Amino acid sequence: MLHLHIVSWVAALILFFAAYENFSDRLGPSKYFKPLHMLLRLFLLLALVSGGYIFFQAMDNNAALYGIKFILGLLTLGLIEMTLARKRKKKSSRNFFYLTILLALITFALGAYLPLGPISALFN
Ligand code: HEM
Repeated sequence: MLHLHIVSWVAALILFFAAYENFSDRLGPSKYFKPLHMLLRLFLLLALVSGGYIFFQAMDNNAALYGIKFILGLLTLGLIEMTLARKRKKKSSRNFFYLTILLALITFALGAYLPLGPISALFN
């Protein structure tokens, strides 16, 4: 499950950047935007389900930090959708874009700090 989780959020972040760059404020979406966005949603769902699964299995160890990881992960995924929604409505989305990256980094750091998984093992 941890591997599925890692693959899912890595793919989601890459697809997020790709989708974001495939929507021009002046010209609208490229022909790749829609398939990228659909694939992105699939991986967002996988990251959510796998993360939730690990959460309910592991949260007894450190309920507070796992709770924060859950919320930060959820916020990151939510921000990804919100950023692209603003982009689609041609509202300013740069700040949302940077906030998404910031939250993804914090979520990553907390995930690496929490004990499970191959990325945590790299640091021990
Ligand atoms: C873009 C969003 C996300 C990123 C960047 C992210 C990142 C990570 C990372 C780096 C790990 C550690 C993997 C390892 O040590 O090998 C991890 C584990 C975990 N993630 Fe996420 N995650 C995200 C979304 C979520 C969501 C939405 C949830 C909950 C629904 C969640 C729940 C968990 C849980 C419970 C763990 C196990 C923590 C541990 O004990 O190591 N994550 N995540």
